[in-house]
Amino acid sequence: MKVTVVGAGAVGASCAEYIAIKNFASEVVILDIKENFAEGKAMDLMQTASLNGFDTKITGSTNDYTKTAGSDIAVITSGIPRKPGMTREELIGINAGIVKEVSSNLIKHSPEVTIIVVSNPMDTMTYLVHKTTGLPKNKIIGMGGALDSARFKYRLSEALEAPASDVDGMVIGGHSDTGMVPLTRLATRNSVPVSEFISEERLNQVAEDTKVGGATLTKMLGTSAWYAPGAAVSGLVQAIACDQKKIFPCSTLLSGEYGLEDLCIGVPVVLGKDGIEKIVEIELNDAEKTKLKESAEGVKKTNGLLEL
Ligand code: 2OP
Repeated sequence: MKVTVVGAGAVGASCAEYIAIKNFASEVVILDIKENFAEGKAMDLMQTASLNGFDTKITGSTNDYTKTAGSDIAVITSGIPRKPGMTREELIGINAGIVKEVSSNLIKHSPEVTIIVVSNPMDTMTYLVHKTTGLPKNKIIGMGGALDSARFKYRLSEALEAPASDVDGMVIGGHSDTGMVPLTRLATRNSVPVSEFISEERLNQVAEDTKVGGATLTKMLGTSAWYAPGAAVSGLVQAIACDQKKIFPCSTLLSGEYGLEDLCIGVPVVLGKDGIEKIVEIELNDAEKTKLKESAEGVKKTNGLLEL
């Protein structure tokens, strides 16, 4: 199992590290345009192999896509991260050109690759990869919901004073500060609806804190977060690499599901060896349907800024 991670920045390097530690991939190639940067990150990570007990072979490349040839899965993290006060959508001007070039280069050397998009504005970048590569739609996955759901579970466990391992919840919709739809109605603490434990007002606060989870950290860190994004995308890579058939909320191209089409947005999907093996249409109530529709309108507006 060969995985390429494009972008040796904090998110890409964290993703590579988590993949290596989980030890399911034989090879991880990290690629960056900055001279020797990916090679340095790869060497540093390889020096943890005896400490963290993994056999994965991690190598780095300065923008030489021949080194990525034959990749089963490729993760695109390249592009600029946002600064405090910026929206993810404001990154489109620079990141669209980068994602277009990267995805074209990837499929040239790995025509069967499954691509996972992390670069922001993620839903629009995922849509751009469809338009650029023409890969089958099951092989293009946007990672946002897995991260947002992890932040949702963090906020739920805080409100419930419960361990995150006892909590479940999902965020669908666009990966944006205003477009996320945390499904508070379906959230549970060990199969019990969380509304049995916390008030509606507290649950609404959990949802609002979830939506700005990325912006909150960007304000604290001066740049985008990387541990949770890296861990979230490594979970998607593992689900595909190990054919886990797990459900994740991922940005995927819709063709009528949820009454939406011709956009990529976060909905529950089954991930396995063929990438997005099924789009799962769950029953939403009217309020959730309205929020998802409004979120889709926001994503389509950003898509409209692309020069396709
Ligand atoms: C985040 O929310 C980078 O969009 C990512 O942290």
